[in-house]
Amino acid sequence: MNDVVAMSDAVAVTDDGGVRTIRLNRPEKKNALTLAMYLEMTRALKEADAADATSCVMIAGAGGTFCAGNDITDFLKAASGGLDPRAHEFLLALARVRKPLVAAVRGAAVGVGTTMLLHCDHVVAGTDATLSTPFLKLGLIPEAASTLLAPMRMGHSRAFSLLVMGRPLSAAEAREAGIVNTVVEPNAVEVVALKAAREIAALPPTTVAVTRGLMRGHLDGVMKQIEAESSHFRELLQSDEARAAFAAFLARKK
Ligand code: COA
Repeated sequence: MNDVVAMSDAVAVTDDGGVRTIRLNRPEKKNALTLAMYLEMTRALKEADAADATSCVMIAGAGGTFCAGNDITDFLKAASGGLDPRAHEFLLALARVRKPLVAAVRGAAVGVGTTMLLHCDHVVAGTDATLSTPFLKLGLIPEAASTLLAPMRMGHSRAFSLLVMGRPLSAAEAREAGIVNTVVEPNAVEVVALKAAREIAALPPTTVAVTRGLMRGHLDGVMKQIEAESSHFRELLQSDEARAAFAAFLARKK
């Protein structure tokens, strides 16, 4: 039986047999991340790391979308008032977490919705999934160490197409690029991802932790890259170009 550990309107955290599921639960806004959601996700990741009973964390989205990235209304506010450092804490927690991360991706994964996948160990995507990072079009630069991890994962030219040109990846292209492990029918995404999470959770935790730690030997570089990106990101967020792009998204006619 699922044990509901914490439930807010926008992030639901459940524990079941060694697997913690962090579900972005703001479907009416395509699971765009607000500060409150970053705080809850950070808390859930840190708590998972500290809990002996948790062996694997699965990240999923409600309503057929993974995540539409940072809430653009929050970005517009931050363009005047500065970025709340607590959102940045999520990126640090994501990079530092020692428990394996599985992602179940349906529909759009935009901005941080895609860059967080580069920190995941096993990604299951639906045939309806699209990964995109339109940071430059918004007058921003990519974050979450994606400027380091994406070229490592898929080579410079494919990373340039994704990160700089903002060209989306289909699920099949993301698998080809080494970001996604498995592509399945949209309705099967969570079942297949949970099966993988349970498979990981059934392994001896110490051997998983040691092996994962050795495989992620570049963590210091990742942390430095997050900080370097962040200083540019904060500056660019205040630019007229970025403000205009945020306002244009929020004022667009559908
Ligand atoms: N921030 C704030 N609101 C967002 C959002 C975001 N990142 N993404 C979506 N929303 C809101 C929309 O404004 C809309 O709100 P409304 O119903 O009050 O008008 C609602 O979520 C549904 O989005 P909509 O665009 O109608 O859905 P869609 O299925 O046509 O498109 C996306 C989905 C994700 C492709 C599209 O919403 C999008 O491109 N979002 C912006 C992504 C982005 O640029 N994120 C920042 C990356 S750095």
